[in-house]
Amino acid sequence: MLQFDERTTRLLEEAYLGADFSRRRRASFDALQPKPGDVVADIGCGNGLLTLELSRSIGADGKVIGIDPSDDMRGAALKRCAHCSNVEILNGTATHLPLDPASADKAVSLQVFEYLDDLPGAVSEVKRILKPGGRFVVGDMHWDTTAWFSDRPQRMKTMLDIWDKHLVERCVPAVLPPILRKAGFRVDSVTAVPFASTHLHPDGLANMMILLMKPFAVRKGEVSEEEANDWAEEQVQLAKSGRFFFSITHFVITATMPD
Ligand SMILES: C[S@@+](CC[C@H](N)C(=O)[O-])C[C@H]1O[C@@H](n2cnc3c(N)ncnc32)[C@H](O)[C@@H]1O
Repeated sequence: MLQFDERTTRLLEEAYLGADFSRRRRASFDALQPKPGDVVADIGCGNGLLTLELSRSIGADGKVIGIDPSDDMRGAALKRCAHCSNVEILNGTATHLPLDPASADKAVSLQVFEYLDDLPGAVSEVKRILKPGGRFVVGDMHWDTTAWFSDRPQRMKTMLDIWDKHLVERCVPAVLPPILRKAGFRVDSVTAVPFASTHLHPDGLANMMILLMKPFAVRKGEVSEEEANDWAEEQVQLAKSGRFFFSITHFVITATMPD
């Protein structure tokens, strides 16, 4: 799996301020419909960008609890939210949330569920901490939607197949709704947020994937550093000649716990 260590934290810190990631974050924020006074759990809060945006929206009477198992990510979130009296950043995981039963109005988890090996366990933990009528929003990619042009399609397929190993579940938007229903949630919507670009934006999803995929593939020992560099360089050259194409679809799943 991808390590959310100091290097990844540094990379995400920069990329997550970019246009693609801001749009992705905004989609979950809007689906959550934060209200002043809400208590919100941000599960797998990472570097705390959504946590901060939620804290502004729920105000001094509300509270956002950011939960993450990575020390480096929690460090970045603590730094970002240091001035917010309505934010707590806690150590924990999606299957062991450091929250009391029926203590949160809302819970959100953005680009985290794909790393979990126990989706039913995480859903039942969210059910435990939500108040009756509570809202739960999950944002994740469906990785089968990736369309990434290359003149070397077999090499691209190899790199994407290796990248699949950075997560546990590549089809969260498809497999999560039935798990939610089985746990007693009402699934209100599954909304597609497509990303498509013919430019290799430095702050875009494709560029961040290149930066993460290159060392990941080499570390896995499945391609040489030279092969990984060639794969990345091809995308730079395609972009320079106006032939770059990348597309992927993110989905926002909104569910409610009945009263
Ligand atoms: C791709 S980042 C997303 C961070 C943040 N939600 C955002 O979108 O800005 C994934 C995060 O999930 C966290 N994570 C990994 N395994 C987790 C688990 N079992 N429970 C909760 N969070 C986890 C990682 O530490 C990392 O911060």
